[in-house]
Order: sequence, then C-alpha cells, then structure tokens
Amino acid sequence: MNLSDRLKDKTLFKTQSYFGGEWHSGAKTFAVDNPANRSKLADVSDVGADGAKAAIAAASEGFKIWRKTSPFERTRILIKWYNLINENADDLATLITSEMGKPWAEAKGEVAYGSAFIEWSAQEAVRIHGETVTVPFPGTRGWTLHQPVGVVSCITPWNFPSAMITRKAAPALAAGCSIVIKPAPETPLTALALAELAHRAGFPAGVFNVICGNAEDLGPVMIGSPEVRMIGFTGSTEVGKLIMRQAADGVKRVALELGGNAPFIVMDDADLESAAAGVAQAKFRSGGQTCVSPNRIIVQNGAADPFLELLEAKIAKIKAGDGFDSGSDIGPLIHDEAVARVDQLVKDAVAGGARVRVGGQPLADELGGSFYAPTLLEGGNFDQAIARSEIFGPVASVYRAKDEKEIIELANDTPYGLAAYLYTRDIGRVHRMSEGLDYGMVGVNAPMVGSASTPFGGMKESGIGREGGKWGVEEFTELKYVLLAGVNS
Ligand code: SIN
Repeated sequence: MNLSDRLKDKTLFKTQSYFGGEWHSGAKTFAVDNPANRSKLADVSDVGADGAKAAIAAASEGFKIWRKTSPFERTRILIKWYNLINENADDLATLITSEMGKPWAEAKGEVAYGSAFIEWSAQEAVRIHGETVTVPFPGTRGWTLHQPVGVVSCITPWNFPSAMITRKAAPALAAGCSIVIKPAPETPLTALALAELAHRAGFPAGVFNVICGNAEDLGPVMIGSPEVRMIGFTGSTEVGKLIMRQAADGVKRVALELGGNAPFIVMDDADLESAAAGVAQAKFRSGGQTCVSPNRIIVQNGAADPFLELLEAKIAKIKAGDGFDSGSDIGPLIHDEAVARVDQLVKDAVAGGARVRVGGQPLADELGGSFYAPTLLEGGNFDQAIARSEIFGPVASVYRAKDEKEIIELANDTPYGLAAYLYTRDIGRVHRMSEGLDYGMVGVNAPMVGSASTPFGGMKESGIGREGGKWGVEEFTELKYVLLAGVNS
C-alpha cells in the first residue's frame, strides 16, 4: 500500500513547498524513503535558493499583516490549527511513522506533545504585556513593550517531524512573527501536512511558510537575507555553530537547541526499579534518537549490580520492528549510516573493555531496514567515544562511580549541558546535585522533562535560548522601552 492510500485525508499528502498562501514546485526533486524497509515514499520538490528568496519575501509581506493582527485573532487562528492537527492526528502519525520510523502509537504521542505547544502559545498570545517602569527624570513616564522580532527562519530536525516544528512555530506566531520553516530532508511530508492544516486554519498568506530543499542552497538565504531577524534551529552542535557564525554578520538573534550528552545518575538510595524503568523509557524513546536521551548512565557502586539486573530484564524485552506493527517497541534508525555509526561506537567500546549484556549488533539483515538491536553495555570508560559523543541510537551504556563528588565531576565533564537525570530519595542530595549539574534541565526521579509549559533548552554547547512556556514566547519578542516627557506641565 502506498503512503497516500494509508491516509484518511489524502489531501494531507503534499510534495510541494508552501509559501505566500500557495503551493510551489522547484526545478528538482529529492526522494523521501521509509527507513523501516527502504522503500520510496515520495519525490518532494526542491525549491532551491530562488524559492527560498520568494518565501522570505512572502514572509516579509505576511509579517506586515500579522504584527498588526489582534492577539485575540492570532489566538483564534492558532486554536483552529491546534484543533485541525488533533482531528487529523492519525494521519499525521502515519506520516511520521512512514518517514521517520517511530512506532505509530509513539508518533501519535508526538502529535499530542507537539500540538500542546500550539494550545499553550495561543493562550499566551493575549498575555504578552509590557510594564510601566519608574524613571528618574521629572515630568516623565516610562513603559516597556514586547514586540514581535520579525521574520523568523526555522530549521527543524527529523527526530520529531511534527513537535520540533510546532515548538518553534507556535510561540513565534503567537508573538506576531511570520515564519519560514525548512524541515529536514528526511521528513518533509509531516511538515507539509502541517502547512496544509495551517492553510485551512486561516493564517494570512505569507505568515506560515514551509520550504523544502537542499540545506546548502536554502540555508544561506534563510540566514543571510536582511529581512530575516531570527533563526531558530534544532540539530547538531556543529551546524548550530555554523548558523551562529552566519547570523553574526547581520547581528541576528538565534535560538539554538543543540546536541546533548545526558548523564542519568542513579544513587545508592534510589528506587532502583523506578530508575531502571526511567532509563528504559527515556533511552528508547524515538529509538534513542533524541537530544535528551540518557547517554551516560552513571550508577553509584553500591547500586550497580542490582540496577543492571533490573535494566537488563527490561531491555531484553524491547522489540525492534516496523513502526506500523503493534508489537514494535522501537522502530528503525533514520538511515543505514546512523546504524553504521552506532555500531562503530559499540565496537570501539567493546574493544576498550565494555561488555555487551543485551543486543550489540545491527538488525538490518534480519528486519530489512535501518534497525539496531536494543543494547545494554556496561563497564566502558569515560574516555571512549561512546561516552564523549551523542549515541543517538538504542544503546544504554552503564558506568560505575564512587560518590556524589565524583559523579558530579564526571557528569559535568562534557562540552554539552542539555538534560540530566538524577534518581535519589535523599532530599538534601536532590538540592545539592541538581544545583551542581551544569545542565539546562534536570529530571529528578523523572525520565521525561519536556512539556508545553516548561523551559526546554541547554547550557554550554547545547544551545542558547529556551523553547516552551512563557520563555519560549519571549524569545520571539523584542523588548522596547518608551519614555514620555512633558507629563507634568
Ligand atoms: C529533541 O530531541 O530535540 C527533543 C526532545 C524532547 O522534546 O523531549
């Protein structure tokens, strides 16, 4: 069955870019494949640099209208988009599973997670207030305004084809910005379906735009065009640095959600059953392909053996398979290069002394797609590549350590600082250790940190800015100060 036949609403299957309120083709196309079986899903039009320029011009026109649109009207249109997304959640999940691979139920969860950012931002649109400020000059009054930044370019990743778009688009739109989104070439179909639903929701032409194509052609236009005032990006630290350098030329604002190397810390006093369940949940979500995925599971010596027994039993039950099979707990990795990369990390770790307790090999031949076995490793050391780089695959790697001091030092010994997890029942430790961890988010006895109402983002080389909650909306506003003289005659 082809992808379009799987959809209840076939008009959600789009292969052109959407800007200025219309659908556009470019001269070339690129193929989108299903990583579970390597079959071709679609040829998507590449609009090239000229298409990107036209989209930015459309967004500039859109901004002129949207910045003056009443926040109450912005809320209404955002809520329409939110409702349409939820009414079409099954189809959106089908698109996500087809092009990205995660199990269909998890894909539906992503649609709900992603749409919550729209609901939250829609409600915030009418709560973007300035303040009156006390000024030292006689006969004057002062106040502040939060105004929309302008045209925003958003470059989004393949691991959350829906949620990483809505987490940027919704607050930007709520603040009064217009946006041009470039989805990852692996997952444009979900983005284009979101554009179709945005069109139906009634955003004025040019306010919401999605363009597809090659990053080398589209990127410089999206970052360098003078009309663009901000760039929102989720992806690797390497590309984030490149974007920051390019944005520096126009002194543009950036919001960067970059790579992570999350420590998952289990102290002697922790509830070990809950900690093992936490690793199984956080590590294997999206097949381990999330920036907040536990990368180094650091267990205090006294808890290590029983914790490993519990975790081994859980990982041994995790089944990899096609995301449309209801028995699959995790889907494939995004492509074969990702499988080869993860396999190399595991091989290096084993060569350096780590022991495979579960899995440890690609399942590509067995399952016919880009699959890697759910894996548990123990006994590696912190200098190995698997501990220093982001695994981005279904491999849980467990290390032992002595005490709080050593664990905090090990956890912070990385250029990254996105998410950390801490399992302990000692309230003093909760405070000491969560304060000591150089991370933007710390889940204490909690394996999932992200939500629509809370700040998501990292320290150090994991990024700049926050997505979610009031902080996410504020990122897309400029703070202006107004001073009025001559008040007292
Ligand atoms: C990400 O991997 O970039 C996002 C993960 C999340 O929102 O939980």
